[in-house]
Amino acid sequence: MKIYMTEDYQTMSRKAANILSAQIILKPNSVLGLATGSTPVGMYKQLVTWYEKGDLDFAEIKTVNLDEYVGLEPTHEQSYRYFMEEHLFSRVNINPANTNVPDGLAADPQAECKWYNQVIRQMGGIDIQVLGMGRNGHIGFNEPGDAFELETHVVDLTESTIEANARFFASRDDVPRQAMSMGIKSIMMAKKILLMVSGEDKADAVKRAFVGPVTPQVPASILQLHPYVTLVGDKAALSKLMEAKQ
Ligand code: F6R
Repeated sequence: MKIYMTEDYQTMSRKAANILSAQIILKPNSVLGLATGSTPVGMYKQLVTWYEKGDLDFAEIKTVNLDEYVGLEPTHEQSYRYFMEEHLFSRVNINPANTNVPDGLAADPQAECKWYNQVIRQMGGIDIQVLGMGRNGHIGFNEPGDAFELETHVVDLTESTIEANARFFASRDDVPRQAMSMGIKSIMMAKKILLMVSGEDKADAVKRAFVGPVTPQVPASILQLHPYVTLVGDKAALSKLMEAKQ
C-alpha cells in the first residue's frame, strides 16, 4: 500500500485529484468507481477546475457509484445521484449515459442490485475505485457485520451511520434506514483503490483497518488484501496509523 500523508484537507483533496487525473489522462475511457460524502468534495472541485482549464477530458469516461439511499428520488438534495450531479457530472463534459448510480426509487431494490452488478460487469470492471471510510470502518455502505457481503446488496444502515449522516438531513428521522451498496467483492475487483480519509474522527478507524486482523467487523480491513491501494489522508486522520507503524 502506498500512503500519502498531507498537511490538511485541502492538500489531501489535491493529491487525490492528482491521482484520479493521472488515470483519466493515461486512459481516457477509464471506468471510475466514485464515492460521495464530505471527504471527496474537495477532490471533485479540483477536478472541475482542471477540466475548466482544459487539462482534463471526461468525454469517454464511464462512472459507477458505490451506493444510494433506498427511497430517495434522484432530485432529492441528499440523494447520491444529486450529489454527483452537483459536484461533478453537471460541471464536466461527461456523457450522462455513461454515469451510473443505483436508482433509489427502484420498485424492487433487490432487482436493482442485480441489475447494478450486470452494469459493472458489462463495463469490464472498475479501473480505479475512490473510497471514503466511515468512523466504524465501513466502505460504501458495507457496515460492520459477521460476513463480507460480496456484490451489490440492500443494507440496513447501522445506528452509527444514521447518526453520522443525520447532519445532512432536517432531522435524524429523515435519514433513510436502508441503502443499496456495491459489495466487497465488487470493490476488491477494482484494479486500483484510492482511499481518502480526513480528520481526527477517522484516525481510529484507519488504524483498525490497517493494523490488525482482516475482519468483516472492520470492513475496510479487507483492503489489506488488495494489491494496489493508495491511501491519501491528512495528518489528523493518519496520526494513529503512523504511531502504530513506528
Ligand atoms: C459514500 C460512501 C461512504 C462514505 C463514508 C465516509 O459514497 O460510500 O462509505 O465514504 O461514509 O463519509 P464522509 O466522507 O462523509 O466522512
